Amino acid sequence: MGIELLVNLSYVAAAVLFIFGLKMLGSPATARKGNLVSALGMFIAVVITLLDQSIIDYKWIIAGVVVGGLIGALVARRVEMTGMPEMVALFNGFGGVASLFVGWAALYGFEATTFELITIVLSILIGGVTFSGSMVAWGKLSERISGKAMVFSGQRIFNILLIIAIIAASVMFTISTGPATSIYLYVVIGLSLLLGIMLVIPIGGADMPVVISLLNSYSGLAACAAGIAINNIILIVAGALVGASGIILTQIMCKAMNRSLSNVLFSGFSAVSAGGAAAKIEGEAKAMTAEDAYYVLEAAASVVIVPGYGMAVAQAQHVVKELQELLEKNGAEVVYAIHPVAGRMPGHMNVLLAEADVSYDLLLEMDAINPRMDTFDVAIVIGANDVVNPAAREMEGSPIYGMPVINVDMARNVFVMKRSMASGFAGIDNPLFFKENTRMLFGDAKEMLGNIIKAFS
Ligand code: TAP
Repeated sequence: MGIELLVNLSYVAAAVLFIFGLKMLGSPATARKGNLVSALGMFIAVVITLLDQSIIDYKWIIAGVVVGGLIGALVARRVEMTGMPEMVALFNGFGGVASLFVGWAALYGFEATTFELITIVLSILIGGVTFSGSMVAWGKLSERISGKAMVFSGQRIFNILLIIAIIAASVMFTISTGPATSIYLYVVIGLSLLLGIMLVIPIGGADMPVVISLLNSYSGLAACAAGIAINNIILIVAGALVGASGIILTQIMCKAMNRSLSNVLFSGFSAVSAGGAAAKIEGEAKAMTAEDAYYVLEAAASVVIVPGYGMAVAQAQHVVKELQELLEKNGAEVVYAIHPVAGRMPGHMNVLLAEADVSYDLLLEMDAINPRMDTFDVAIVIGANDVVNPAAREMEGSPIYGMPVINVDMARNVFVMKRSMASGFAGIDNPLFFKENTRMLFGDAKEMLGNIIKAFS
């Protein structure tokens, strides 16, 4: 068998592993295995690429693998579950800048055709936008810069002019010869970095995870373009898979928030909320103790648990499972209601509950639970806020008006566990806390659940 055939067969095997891995990631039961299968595909792709390409010096590659591997392993071990979106933003950014460099390097060593030059400029352009956009997203998520949407008058016109300038510089890059090529190349790099910043600064608040997913898709497209530029099939396949899955995920999130992508990208979440000052919420929030909660739960026949970001912060998933078992022992039916954007990343709640060995059959999606919400004796909201906010149904001026939420307020009793009256990620008030059937359990979710469990035993 010729080396070329072996390389191509290995690439096909790697592509098949990527696709099966992705498919397995679709269910919590197979997600872990899916990750391993995809990683095996990537391992084969890397090894074969190193054997296939005429590598000039392995020393640099080994040094890169050791340094990069060490940093990656260290950061991955240290990252908190709640810091994952920031980590993904960094991954996307590094993916983007890698494609930028691959495209740039492809310029050297051979006479590129016009088509190759177009793919080179595309990988540099998309890679640059992805890199700077992801760095801004990382800064916002980690609160190194303000997480609010930054909008200014004339922003759209500025962006349009910027895009026109990038297109013009890209065209000049592909048709020019001699030293002018490098100048246009630097202009494309500089302007694409600026565009990435300009595209992400007007996005803020609850829209940030959508942007992360979109940037993930861009990083795939950049890799795809780089793959075409250097004629590497597996890079094209992997880039296309990332590009497509990122855009599908982006759409799923937009749908879950009842927003269009253009609305997310161009209208600035916090800017909208400032303008849409929702009606003032009247009333008083009523607090209760863990002991009071125990008496109601002890008599409950059906309980729905609605986890949110606060459960992740408190790392309360194991105590939640303990309470579930106690309630079941007491004869109650217990299910979990999972909102598609609860937490800070897709599947956040599913991953945490899987970690605590909560059976997948008990996790119900919003559409399955809402029609029967009024049959539950108690809805326990654990560190969730925006995803249970009835303002989405009731307050037309609210920035989340129209977003599908879990209608916990329709249950007979609602217990809300959180530390204060503070708002959630979207930064808006929640009328749920003031409803007649709502009781607030103020405190850290893990501690509060622990106190209820103590009362049971
Ligand atoms: P949030 O609305 O962010 O509310 C979380 C609540 O948890 C906060 O109000 C906070 O209140 C409470 N909390 C924090 N630490 C706690 C602790 N140790 N113990 C108890 N409570 C604690 O969360 P959510 O309801 O899950 O909504 C997710 C938000 O992210 C939505 O706005 C959603 O649109 C947005 N988003 C998510 C995604 C994905 S993919 N998940 C995508 C796009 C947007 P206190 O500070 O008072 O404790």
